[in-house]
Amino acid sequence: MAAPLSLSSASPNSNQLSSLLRCFPVISLSSRCRCLSFDSDYRNLSPILKATSSLSSSSRPLHVHTIVKVDLGDRSYPVHIGSGLLNQPELLQRHVHGNQVLIVTDTTVAPFYLDQTISALTNRNLNLKVESVILPDGEQFKNMESVMKVFDKAIESRLDRRCTFIALGGGRVGDICGYAAASYLRGVSYIQIPTTLMSQVDSSVGGKTGINHRAGKNLIGTIYQPRCVLIDIDTLNTLEDRQLASGLAEIIKLGLVRDAAFFEWLENNIFALLARNSSAVSYAIKRSCEIKAEIVSLDEKENGLRAILNLGHTFGHAIETGSGYGQWLHGEAVAAGTVMAVDMSYRIGWIDDSLVKRVHTIFRAAKLHTTPSETMTMHIFKSLMALDKKVANGVLRLVLLKGPLGNCVFTGDYDLQALDDTLQAFCNS
Ligand SMILES: NC(=O)c1ccc[n+]([C@@H]2O[C@H](COP(=O)([O-])OP(=O)(O)OC[C@H]3O[C@@H](n4cnc5c(N)ncnc54)[C@H](O)[C@@H]3O)[C@@H](O)[C@H]2O)c1
Ligand SMILES: [Zn+2]
Repeated sequence: MAAPLSLSSASPNSNQLSSLLRCFPVISLSSRCRCLSFDSDYRNLSPILKATSSLSSSSRPLHVHTIVKVDLGDRSYPVHIGSGLLNQPELLQRHVHGNQVLIVTDTTVAPFYLDQTISALTNRNLNLKVESVILPDGEQFKNMESVMKVFDKAIESRLDRRCTFIALGGGRVGDICGYAAASYLRGVSYIQIPTTLMSQVDSSVGGKTGINHRAGKNLIGTIYQPRCVLIDIDTLNTLEDRQLASGLAEIIKLGLVRDAAFFEWLENNIFALLARNSSAVSYAIKRSCEIKAEIVSLDEKENGLRAILNLGHTFGHAIETGSGYGQWLHGEAVAAGTVMAVDMSYRIGWIDDSLVKRVHTIFRAAKLHTTPSETMTMHIFKSLMALDKKVANGVLRLVLLKGPLGNCVFTGDYDLQALDDTLQAFCNS
């Protein structure tokens, strides 16, 4: 049996911030041209709260700009988070390496944001040559053919090693572009401009890149860090509600495994998030990126700690595959999978029932699933879970909650009967 790895956190600073934000759950951001900057140190938050509340009578949006650092020595990079960042050319241009850029995007995102991104790159910067490749939209196109399209465009445009790829889109575009950047001329710089909530809080930070194989999702890939991540929360304005909720599932997961105060803040602000309140959305993205950045900094290659980000994913991947790709969005499957992992943690006796209820309540409030699809049987679950990447020496290791909220374990050392009982409780047969 694998030894359980006990992991916990909860910074007093996040408690302070959480209570501050509870006092200001819905702050309307107003007044354009005000660009306030604060880093991940919460001591700098109060000027922003003062500024935002005192400017609430103006109708212009405030450009609040946060920077979270991913600390990886000489491969460290900033995650810029804010409203209107794509309208700040110098911010993007500062991170471009060389004078050739290839933007990788898809057919859905291009009409919304490609021109804006090209303008941000070329504004008062006539020496920059910008090319773009627009990939078909759909998880079925996250394959070698799409990577080849990126290479074809790069080679045709004679891009040399001093060039920068830019991923403009959701997690799929980010994964393809990052993987192509890792291999083109044995590695060129790339920037992530994530445009879905899922990609803003999860896939754009941490450097996991790759594509799917016929046999399974994300089987081919590498870890390759971007030079910078630029999150313009305004891009969420065009995102479908279902995609937004899918991203919320990963945010809730982060609170559960790592930060009790953040989970409580999410419970109190879930409706503000669903209503896309910009201050609530910015804070949720910022805190998620901080948690992810901290975990990645400590365990970039997923030798231990980083595995906790997989809470609900073993059950969730089985639901995604078993229900047919495309039927369930990744975050929807993660939500139901998290409810199952929490149920199992309770059956083993590692958490109390009040937490089980809270997890149900928050996912329901976020309009996410709390049960798998009816077609999922115990047999389907078991056969798909046996293929999970986290099986080691025949033992399925799972992320389970243990102890007070915000604590979890990644372990293969659990009561197998509890797993059977959970599967039985959530399956028809
Ligand atoms: N690398 C990682 O660490 C990591 C982590 C989680 C997920 N992923 C991968 O990310 C992918 C899922 O990411 P996703 O949920 O962002 O899905 P996605 O990239 O497929 O995007 C979802 C849909 O939203 C559209 N879209 C994107 N931005 C938009 C916007 N601003 N307005 C309107 N439409 C927009 C896309 O065109 C697509 O149709 C999967 O391939 C998954 O394997 C990777
Ligand atoms: Zn996920």
